[in-house]
Amino acid sequence: MSNNSAPRKAITVNTLQEMKNGGGKFACLTAYDYCSAHAVSSSGVEVILVGDSLGMVIQGHDSSLPVTIMDVAYHMRCVKRGNQGAFLMVDLPFMSYYSDMQTLENSATLMRKGAQMVKLEGGAWLADSTRLLVQHGIPVCAHMGLTPQSINHLGGYRVQGRDPAKAQAMIDEALILQEAGAAIILLECVPRELGSRITEALDVPVIGIGAGPDTDGQIMVLHDMLGLYPGRPAKFVKNFLRGNVHGVQGAIMAYVDAVKTGSFPAPEHCY
Ligand code: KIV
Repeated sequence: MSNNSAPRKAITVNTLQEMKNGGGKFACLTAYDYCSAHAVSSSGVEVILVGDSLGMVIQGHDSSLPVTIMDVAYHMRCVKRGNQGAFLMVDLPFMSYYSDMQTLENSATLMRKGAQMVKLEGGAWLADSTRLLVQHGIPVCAHMGLTPQSINHLGGYRVQGRDPAKAQAMIDEALILQEAGAAIILLECVPRELGSRITEALDVPVIGIGAGPDTDGQIMVLHDMLGLYPGRPAKFVKNFLRGNVHGVQGAIMAYVDAVKTGSFPAPEHCY
């Protein structure tokens, strides 16, 4: 198998910030292995996430909770070999950041093996961990809104921030995390208006999944956008492989194009 596309300049956290400043949209996808990382990064995707969604789409669990730091590190090493210059963001899995020492050690494990940013799930309570990581040179993405690692506390995969007070609290918490040094905020499953307000309020880039069309970047789980994951897809999922005569790489390119032109997410993918 070969891919002859010209190599591009590696994407960094500065590239993403410049894209936000210039009003450009960027595309993000998950990848968990060499071939998918190669396909994703050579099709114009700016950010690869080695997400703990691997617990569901790779390991077949019913949540991301069983995923360990070693699982994530293993998949990240596979992805790193296939990555063609995309920015590599990696999840700290459930309970891998409950103390300062553990947060630093687990993040260091990932960074030493090639991660360029770690992603943690939560709100303002992550401010101290964010500050600590940033002080040690580790860029942070804070994942807010629907945080799947807290699914048992949230009581299900539900839209977050519908209530005006909770929406305002999410904006305030996003500002606290930005102040603490988070370089990216990721918003999952929030009403499109809230996605828009948080993106407007923050200087740092905001990535959305089910957060409407106005965020600076969009992300989807690769297996969802290829229609590979069994069961009923979430409202924010679009299958880009269906009807695409150019196969997997064509589907990824169509996704990138749709994100950049603003045609995805469409109103039917929003809350
Ligand atoms: O683990 C993951 O794939 C994620 C995305 C849903 C954003 O966190």
